[in-house]
Amino acid sequence: MTKKKVFSGIQPSGDIHLGNYMGALRNWVAMQDEYQTVYCVVDLHALTLPQAPSDLAEARLRTAKILLAAGIDPQRSLLYHQSQVPQHAELSWILGTFTSMGRLGRMTQYKEKEDKGGQNLGLFSYPVLMAADILVHKVHAVPVGDDQTQHLEFTRDLVERFNSRYGDFFPAPEQITPGRGARVMSLKDPSSKMSKSDPDDDSRILVTDAPDAIRRKIRRAVTDSGARIAYDVERKPGISNLLDILAVFAGDAVDDLADRYSGAGYGRFKETVAEAVIEGLAPLRRAFLDLEDREVERIMKMGALDARIQAERTMVEVRKMIGLSG
Ligand code: TYM
Repeated sequence: MTKKKVFSGIQPSGDIHLGNYMGALRNWVAMQDEYQTVYCVVDLHALTLPQAPSDLAEARLRTAKILLAAGIDPQRSLLYHQSQVPQHAELSWILGTFTSMGRLGRMTQYKEKEDKGGQNLGLFSYPVLMAADILVHKVHAVPVGDDQTQHLEFTRDLVERFNSRYGDFFPAPEQITPGRGARVMSLKDPSSKMSKSDPDDDSRILVTDAPDAIRRKIRRAVTDSGARIAYDVERKPGISNLLDILAVFAGDAVDDLADRYSGAGYGRFKETVAEAVIEGLAPLRRAFLDLEDREVERIMKMGALDARIQAERTMVEVRKMIGLSG
């Protein structure tokens, strides 16, 4: 039986944090046995915010290295940089002609970035390129965190529009979101999600952080009034976020952990969370420090070669369907 195919991507805009890890990366690694997996460092998407060339060059290499260190295995997964496979951009252009401007203007992510002064066309059409990433591989599912739901809905709508014009060609991709960790919150403000763009470094734990940095950040994490450890997202968002994190790293149910630590006090509880995260991330950090840049570059080049072949298969069909072949 052929395995189902999945695709997902991550932007090389700053280091990978615990939200990326719990919402996406951890699943990407786990899915390699059961699925045919395609993972991508979406460097074209990163251009939607101004980037110094040397920073971008370094960030895409570091991002690729972290994915490999986390356990993305090039023998089982296709891994590459988006910009090395021009079929993504080509399909994005075609899909753009199926997209209404009104729809794009209503996307939450665009509205947020527009409010912060981002107004380029790339930012506006970001979801179209994301749809192209997914559709150029004709995948069945996309493992992502909660914040990508609107983008996945948008992709399925595009599929419907394309298929109703040209016949049943693209599968409508479903979203795979983890039961826990789909939305990890900022350590400094548990009402907003942990994010690469937060100016406060203490708001996020990087998966490559040294143990001392992890201890310090968790010790300083904003908690709630009161002293009991309990899972209550409304009234105790800070503690609930830490319980979610501990549940993922300890592999225990949140309710059991809340019972076990209910009277432990915030200080001891935070120490437990920190040690669990440090232990859970230790293999990744070790592998990251061991991996050579040259080896990462070699793997990414090989991945792009394969990805181009696979993506071109889709594009040959698409060009034929819409009248652009020969
Ligand atoms: P990006 O780079 O912002 O994030 C990568 C992945 O991490 C997840 N994530 C989180 N999960 C839980 N809690 C958080 N605080 C948190 N922050 C981020 C994201 O949901 C994502 O799965 N648009 C995408 C990149 C992309 C893509 C694609 C994804 C481009 N093309 C095609 C899937 C398929 C993005 O900006 O992810």
